[in-house]
Amino acid sequence: SEAEKGAYPYYMLKEIDEQPTVMRSLIKHYTTDDGSVIIDDALLDSMKKADRLYIVAAGTSYHAGLVGKEIFEGLAKVPTEVHVASEFGYNPPILSEKPFFIFLTQSGETADSRQVLAQVNKWGYESLTITNVENSTLSREATFTLLLYAGPEIAVASTKAYTGQIALEAILAKRLGEEKDVSAATSFNVARELTTVANGMQELVDEKGQYEQIAANALATTRNAFYIGRAIDYDVAQEAALKLKEVSYVQTEGFASGELKHGTIALIEEGTPVIAIITCAKTAKHTRSNTQEVLARGANVINIVSRNLAEDGDQIILPDVHSLLTPLLAIVPCQLLAYYTSLQRGYDVDKPRNLAKSVTVE
Ligand code: G6P
Repeated sequence: SEAEKGAYPYYMLKEIDEQPTVMRSLIKHYTTDDGSVIIDDALLDSMKKADRLYIVAAGTSYHAGLVGKEIFEGLAKVPTEVHVASEFGYNPPILSEKPFFIFLTQSGETADSRQVLAQVNKWGYESLTITNVENSTLSREATFTLLLYAGPEIAVASTKAYTGQIALEAILAKRLGEEKDVSAATSFNVARELTTVANGMQELVDEKGQYEQIAANALATTRNAFYIGRAIDYDVAQEAALKLKEVSYVQTEGFASGELKHGTIALIEEGTPVIAIITCAKTAKHTRSNTQEVLARGANVINIVSRNLAEDGDQIILPDVHSLLTPLLAIVPCQLLAYYTSLQRGYDVDKPRNLAKSVTVE
């Protein structure tokens, strides 16, 4: 079956490797040969009426939502909020006049997200579930569903669902923006951009030895680690940190680079790994100045940088893609660093301690 490991030692590695295929499968399911996007008219009508999108999710799906905010605001110019499902009930946002809810959930079963959807249904608002599992609970209970068609995700640490969700958000935002005549959307050829992403991902997963080496040098014995970035790179830093901590048990945090000086820099010691994500042209210079600050305090700095922003000494270079899609590339080396660090520490990377694939209790 599709869910068999085949020649792979672990599902996590197989699922990381499948990401270019997931991109191509989304292009196939949601676009035509002439590049137009296929989205159900009823869903589009409902979203077009909305004055604000509310993305609700947990864990890695929440991090895909953070990137989704940038994408929906960038391509469809619709204000977007992102909420952690477990917090929504205690601290509900003041809703706009015409809210539309998007639930991101790999499994479609997360209890905290289900509770929010039940509340949304009680209020009588329309909603969309973006999920990998057809006929899952959140899919059945929402007004609309879009499927990821990513194939089963078995490893507890989510990889291809994250990139699949971001790609599908881009497809949806393109179509919505086009409908609203936003020039950022009409000039965005999503099938072509995601094909470039798929090719770039392939380049990255073909260079595994490099990440294994960096993990061995910088992460295999460290007590803690930090990911930093600004703007869209900060969104990725949060997911990258979650990936590393959940499979390697290294205490890892993802920070907005500009916040370092407000506290976290106190934790930097000789050899502390600080991994900087630099794909955003507007903020690259500022993040680089943060890496200089931590270098001066002995940090072991590793830069993950888009090719067009690369400088001598940068360790990991990412193929160039559209500026709203760089998370799809930047996360891949981070997933591989997490994977190899876990193996080097002797853990079962597919089944980290204390974690479940899907959390169906509050
Ligand atoms: C669990 C999993 C995570 C996942 C989160 C949300 O914590 O271990 O990998 O991101 O649930 O799951 P969902 O299925 O709603 O995306």
